[in-house]
Amino acid sequence: MKSTVTANANIALIKYWGKKDFDLNIPQNNSLSVTLDGLTTKTTVEFSSLYKHDELILNNILQSIEESKKLISFLNLIREKANINLFAKVISENNFPTAAGLASSSSGFAALALAGCDAAGLNLSKKELSILARKGSGSAARSIFGGFVEWAAGKIGYDESSYAMQLYDENYWPEIRVIVLVLEEGKKEVSSRSGMQSSVFTSPMYKSWLDTVNLDLISLKRALLEKDFTRIGSIAESNCLKMHSTMLTSNPPLIYWNANTLELVKYILELRKNGLEIYFTIDAGPQIKILCLEKDVLNLKKKLNSFDFINKIIDCSSGSGAFILNE
Ligand code: DP6
Repeated sequence: MKSTVTANANIALIKYWGKKDFDLNIPQNNSLSVTLDGLTTKTTVEFSSLYKHDELILNNILQSIEESKKLISFLNLIREKANINLFAKVISENNFPTAAGLASSSSGFAALALAGCDAAGLNLSKKELSILARKGSGSAARSIFGGFVEWAAGKIGYDESSYAMQLYDENYWPEIRVIVLVLEEGKKEVSSRSGMQSSVFTSPMYKSWLDTVNLDLISLKRALLEKDFTRIGSIAESNCLKMHSTMLTSNPPLIYWNANTLELVKYILELRKNGLEIYFTIDAGPQIKILCLEKDVLNLKKKLNSFDFINKIIDCSSGSGAFILNE
């Protein structure tokens, strides 16, 4: 009863920030993402009667019971579905910094959902896997699929109504790139889960976020259909800034950027003014993700190399959904 799975993280072009059903992890609004081939989690789950408790080894480090709490409640969902009562050993590795605003929970729970179900002998559809992954971490609902993915928010109290679906697969637009700039490798101070809850209840901007996010989604879907990079970049950038405005105006304020993030944002705007067509998006952390086209990647990377504070540059294309690696 063992399975190994790989899943990629995704980056939202239309963000998810806020839940309307906290227990079921049902979001306030639909979101849209692209799955990235350069940010990958590999997870092995083994259920066995030899294990006396659940055990998680994350990036080669054995996690405490406290650190494994989310994992254990997620395994309980799988055990319940499969009607088994065996404990599991889970070994998971990311090829990028964990919990630093690089969407590690998206690839993490997508990989865990598929590996856990496969190891438990369950054969779920992608939609069912997306519903399950959502309960580990909302953004993980999208990482079950490759390419461009929409997560339909669904209704409060209706578990089955909230799931992701693929709009276009990973081969739809090979020229589109996301350049991830890692500025800080540490764990973020405020998790997305508690940060978004605070924005929903305390930010005076939250209502405007909800009033405009659907229109952003419709416009971005149209631009994707037309492969209109200029519109995709501008909508994604402005949607990200709107999300950050709800963060900044939360009480207490949520400031996920650092000084280097701001310096790069200004630099990106400057480069764009001078004719290089690039856009940024940022999640709940200081890292920057630049949207660009393949033809500009080399030139852009050369320019970025002059910043000493950029720890890592990860060049991503649109990647595949979660899949099983077992021989
Ligand atoms: C800013 O999916 O990590 O990256 O559902 O509470 O686990 P939980 O939150 P999570 O939040 C992601 C927030 C975001 C935007 C996005 O990916 O859409």
